[in-house]
Amino acid sequence: MNTLIEKLCKEHNLSDNELAELIESDDAETAELLRQRADEVRQLHYGKKVFLRGLIEISSYCRNDCLYCGIRRSNKTAERYRLTREEILSCCENGYALGLRTFVMQGGEDAFFTDEFLCGVVSEIKEKYPDCAVTLSVGERSYESYKRLKEAGADRYLLRHEASDESLYSKLHPKELTIANRKRCLFDLKELGYQVGAGFMVGAPFQTTEHIIADLRFLQELQPQMIGIGPFVPHHMTPFADKKGGSLELTLRLLGILRLMFPKALLPATTALGTIAEDGREQGLRTGCNVVMPNLSPVMVRKKYDLYDNKLCSGKESTEYLDELEESINSAGYTVSRERGDAVGFSKI
Ligand code: 5AD
Repeated sequence: MNTLIEKLCKEHNLSDNELAELIESDDAETAELLRQRADEVRQLHYGKKVFLRGLIEISSYCRNDCLYCGIRRSNKTAERYRLTREEILSCCENGYALGLRTFVMQGGEDAFFTDEFLCGVVSEIKEKYPDCAVTLSVGERSYESYKRLKEAGADRYLLRHEASDESLYSKLHPKELTIANRKRCLFDLKELGYQVGAGFMVGAPFQTTEHIIADLRFLQELQPQMIGIGPFVPHHMTPFADKKGGSLELTLRLLGILRLMFPKALLPATTALGTIAEDGREQGLRTGCNVVMPNLSPVMVRKKYDLYDNKLCSGKESTEYLDELEESINSAGYTVSRERGDAVGFSKI
């Protein structure tokens, strides 16, 4: 296994068979070597810096019906809310005062969010805080829409591809959603000059090693600046309520592999990782991650952005406790950066 890790380190790539072997390795020694190498590579490009992103969950309305997600439209028990323009701006004001320099607006695919509305909010944020990056994560839209949002000032876009394999994608999503359109969106976003984030859930129902390899191959093709992965966590009001969740070990192994395959990528230690293990996020940081996204949403709505059971939204997860978050980042051996935190080597067009 050691020679595979060294090869991945040097060549940033392995054959399918070699990847399968590494993905399925479950001994502590391999995990530790992978962690060390991933940490070396992250330090080579990013030093000990961790970038913070203020996450604003702008709406829990969603037109989609993804089988894994707690805010899917068929979940009639989900509490729905939508932030106003004023509420979003006040989140940014709080975040800016706390030192955050990236605002991520994430939400379900809510028809209320027209181009006009989103462009207005984005341009107002950019006007008020020209030193900040604005990231959008509001799902599949047309090329024209992504273009307008870019012109309004959006810098980055997060849209997980979820599953590159067509048959797995269709087991996780309703018929109306296709992997072809998801990929079209991601390539459109790249072409428009966004810093793009893709990614997938680890241990999603029906996911095999081959599916994960297909995800890694798709990421190689897309070359996103950001890659978000986190364990699948069942939500009790979805068809996947009784499915097994993804494991900490496999998620960490994949984070290590991703860091070696994509040395310069921005890799968040996700909320889902922090949800399945007390020190999950810190372990992520020690295994190549360099981004944390504390919750900047108004406290009143946080519980309602309920993607999966027990989703963290308070304590170190939230911006009220940024000091504690910083402390835990420091004690993991890293330092919080006050920069915008663009991907190294990304040139703006
Ligand atoms: N478990 C883990 N992650 C989930 N997401 C949605 N539902 C779940 C779940 N049950 C992730 C999806 C989506 C992101 C916003 O949250 O990958 O892209």
